[in-house]
Parts: sequence; C-alpha cells; structure tokens
Amino acid sequence: MLEIKGEVNARPAGTVNTRITTGEIEIMVKELSVLNSAKPLPFPPEDDIKVGEETRLKYRYLDLRRPRIFQNMLLRHQVCQLTREYFNSLDFLEVETPILTKSTPEGARDYLVPSRVNEGRFYALPQSPQLFKQILMVSGFDRYYQIVKCFRDEDLRADRQPEFTQIDLEMSFVEPEDVMLVTEELIKKIFKKIQGKELTTPFRRLDYDTAIAKYGKDAPDLRFGLDLVEITTLAAKCGFKVFQKVVENGGIVKGVKYPGGEKLSRKDIDDLTEFVAIYGARGLAWLKITQDGPQSVIAKFFSAEELAGIQEAFAAEVGDLIFFVADQPKIVNDALANLRKKIAEQLDLIKKGELAFCWVVDFPLFDYNEGEKRYEALHHPFTCPTVEDIEELTKAPGKARSLAYDLVLNGTEIGGGSIRVHNYDLQKALFKIIGMDDEEASRRFGFLLEALSFGAPPHGGLALGLDRLVMLLTDSESIRDIIAFPKTQKAVCLLTEAPGEVSNAQLGELSLKLDT
Ligand code: AMO
Ligand code: AMP
Repeated sequence: MLEIKGEVNARPAGTVNTRITTGEIEIMVKELSVLNSAKPLPFPPEDDIKVGEETRLKYRYLDLRRPRIFQNMLLRHQVCQLTREYFNSLDFLEVETPILTKSTPEGARDYLVPSRVNEGRFYALPQSPQLFKQILMVSGFDRYYQIVKCFRDEDLRADRQPEFTQIDLEMSFVEPEDVMLVTEELIKKIFKKIQGKELTTPFRRLDYDTAIAKYGKDAPDLRFGLDLVEITTLAAKCGFKVFQKVVENGGIVKGVKYPGGEKLSRKDIDDLTEFVAIYGARGLAWLKITQDGPQSVIAKFFSAEELAGIQEAFAAEVGDLIFFVADQPKIVNDALANLRKKIAEQLDLIKKGELAFCWVVDFPLFDYNEGEKRYEALHHPFTCPTVEDIEELTKAPGKARSLAYDLVLNGTEIGGGSIRVHNYDLQKALFKIIGMDDEEASRRFGFLLEALSFGAPPHGGLALGLDRLVMLLTDSESIRDIIAFPKTQKAVCLLTEAPGEVSNAQLGELSLKLDT
C-alpha cells in the first residue's frame, strides 16, 4: 500500500494502453511513502484465476478485491437500495424484528441459542419473520417490509445458505392479486434498472397440478418445452412387467422426449440412466423412433397401436427418442424434472439472458407424510385455505387448496407467500389437522392465537429470496458468489473458522455439557 504525491499527466497520443484502467495517465512521482507492506498474495485479485474455492473463501478479503465479486456486491447494494426506495414510495414501514426469538416453522431445523440467564432455555434464530410480521398487522401497521436475515439449518445446495436474506413484506386487507402486483412491480423496477430490460406483467400463472404434471416440479423452468407426458393408463395394460408392477403398486409412468435422440449411443443412455438414479429412479426405459418404426428392448411388450399411441402422445418424430421412468410419483417427477433440464442443456435449448417468470398458484394446503402418517403444511401452517369451512377442511384435508403463491424465475423459486389465517378458530383447527393438540398449539403459538383474537385484520404477504434474485441477476453459478462472507456446503465460514469450539467455562455458564 503506497501513498504517492505528484503530478497526473495524460499520456501522449499513441502511448495510451486501453487494456488497463489507468492506461490513459502517467503519474510523475514527487514523494512516495509505504503505508503498509503486503506478503505475496495466495492468488492474484483477477477474475480469471484457477484457484480452488476453499482458498478463495479462506482469504475472502482478497477474493472480494476481484472485479467480478466486487461488481456482485455493488449490484446487491443497488437491489437493496431500489427495494427500499420502492417500498418507501408506497408508504410501507421498515420494521426490524427480533433475531433471538422462538421457533417459526418454515420446514427446516432451527439454529438454537442457549440462554445464560434462563437456565435450560433456548432461543431459536428466526427461519423467517413470519409471525412477527403477522403480529404487526394486528397492531395496525398495515404495510410492512424488511430486508432481513433468516436462519435455517438444512442441507445446503448451490442456491441455499444457512443464513440468507429475504425481502419480506406483509399487507392488511389484501387478496393474492394485490401481493402479486406489488411484487411484480418491484421485480420490474429491479430488472429495468439493473439489466435495462422491460418485463411484461402480469407474469404467467400456472396451477400447481399443471406444474407437476408438465414439468415434474413446483418451480418449473419455462425457458424450453420438453413437457412431460404421463402414460400410466397405457402402461397398466402393456406387457412390460416393470411398468405393470409399478402401476399395480400405486405408482405412475411418465416420460420425456429427447428430440433427435435416436443418435444417442448406448453409453449416452447409460450415463443418463446413472443421472436419474441420483433421484431414485431404478431404471430409464427408452424408445427410439426410427425410419422402421419404434425400436427398443421394451418395444416387444407393446402392441403396434400402443406404440403409435405413445408416439402421438409425445408428438415424437423419426429421429427422436422417448425416455420413461416408472415409480412412485415423487421419484418419477423428481427424476424427469432433472432429466428434462439435462436434455435442454445437452441440446443447448436455453438461450442466454432469457427470463421466464411465473407464479405457481393453487397449491394443496397439506402434504401427507407417509412415514409419520400425518398431514403437514405444504407452506407454513398460517396459510389460508381456499375453503374456510372448518368441518369441510377436517373431513378431507388432502383436498384443501391454499391461497399461496410462489414466484419462479428460470426454474428457481425466488419468492413465496400467501394470504394468512386471521381467524382464531380456523388457525386452531389447522393446527389440529397437522397433529398439534391445543396444549402444544398454545405452548408454541399461544401468542399468535391470542393476537388473532384481538380483531386481527385479513392480511397476506410474501418473501423474496434476495440472494437467489441477485444470483440470477448476476448470472452467478453459486449463491456464495453474491454473499460477502458466505459459508461452505458444510455450513463453515472458512475465513473465521466458525463454528468454533467453546471453553468449558462458557458451557458451564450456560449450564451445558457436551456429549460428543
Ligand atoms: P419461504 O420459506 O418460501 O417463505 O422463503 C422465501 C424465499 O426465501 C428464499 N430462501 C432461501 N434462500 C437462500 N437460502 C435458503 N436456505 C433459503 N430458504 C428460502 C427462497 C424462498 O422463495 N415466511 C415465508 C414467506 C411468506 O409466507 O411471506 C417464507 O419464509 O427464494
Ligand atoms: P430390464 O427388464 O430390467 O432389463 O429393464 C429393461 C429396461 O427398462 C431398461 O432400459 C431399464 O433401464 C428400464 N427400467 C427398469 N426399471 C425401470 C423403471 N422403474 N422405470 C423406468 N425404466 C425402467
């Protein structure tokens, strides 16, 4: 680190170096002092370096000097600024909610913090400010927002961090369309300012059942076709034992077309079979449409009409190949959703810079947990059902739909929200359906239930995942590239080496003993 005093002169014409940012000037040094020395750097602060992410994260302060990472931080800052400007202009109030709090169920494990002064008791770090923002509505703050840290102890992936940031909002007296409109306008503003793109709204709406049927997941990538097709009815009657058995056991058979896939080699198909096995698929049957008709080891199990029916259902032409997975619906959809994406990548069907937004709506209110033989909330248990008749809900919880909406961009869920339950009896009934008796409901959420009983207004809201949004805006492959000090897949901060050990004295103060 040098301090230089002197004269800055323009370089004479013909000597300008356009390849470097300082290439237009010369500094005539009059005084030079060394402010600080530097050890040799473990890697140069440049964009195209071949250095492992571990090293980059250990020396994150040097990594942050790389222009690309700095640009990501700058863009993130701009998104936050735009967000605040936007909500302030609509008279939303930014309110901070507690970090040391009680568990809010958002589907992940809680991070717990032991309390020293309340022996044997723990705070939970918020998985989201869900309950506080609802309580703010009861207080009459009818437009709330916050750019807020959330904490979830879950298995990490390229788009998940243990601590991440939400753009969180809540409004009173609204319907789903109001929340979607407010969100769309914010997204439009951000993409206009950051990427200079005019987005067309309203974004496409897709109901949950269609999303699962055609794309195998509730966050579909709509940048390409390759719709999934179900052939369960046909498969039930065919002579192929594998398909028949699966259908007899309550499973389904679905497939996806690989345009031009007749050219795939044995090895290509084996590789894709291994790929779907990651998602639990026990095999990957295929059918090639050749000049001489459909060909495959399984073709002999189908009649000519059945083969023609399949070809038609997939709109397959000579030269195409169709892949099939037979299993329980969850495995089939998961495997084919990922295979669909893989095929699109192999065929280069995804255009760079293309944006495909959609809202997924009409979610089931509950998911049935086969293992535990009970219903669970698909979103969180404060989500309002479309039917508010308690008797009807209790009779057939599996049929109930919710007033929830998820915002999806290019196959990534970037936000989710819902209209909430604002009625005390309905909230208690929903707790009961997910197996929470009155005692447990009152111990865990008594404060919410009580708040609802003081004239809570109808309300709803949404939270956008800021990190995921910035990740997509910057075309980053990893969520870690847009967080200043991120954690690894194992939830470790390589810079500070957190989580660290603590002394016995500290444990003693917290009345804790380790049993490792
Ligand atoms: P939800 O759980 O869907 O909703 O979260 C909202 C958005 O937050 C982002 N997100 C994450 N981003 C990075 N790492 C994670 N581990 C992670 N988990 C979630 C996603 C997601 O869409 N309280 C409700 C919102 C509401 O109902 O208003 C909630 O938290 O982009
Ligand atoms: P097999 O009769 O086991 O030799 O399998 C014949 C073809 O069916 C192979 O291509 C397998 O990959 C495929 N296959 C086996 N089980 C399944 C399944 N559950 N779903 C889809 N294809 C399968």
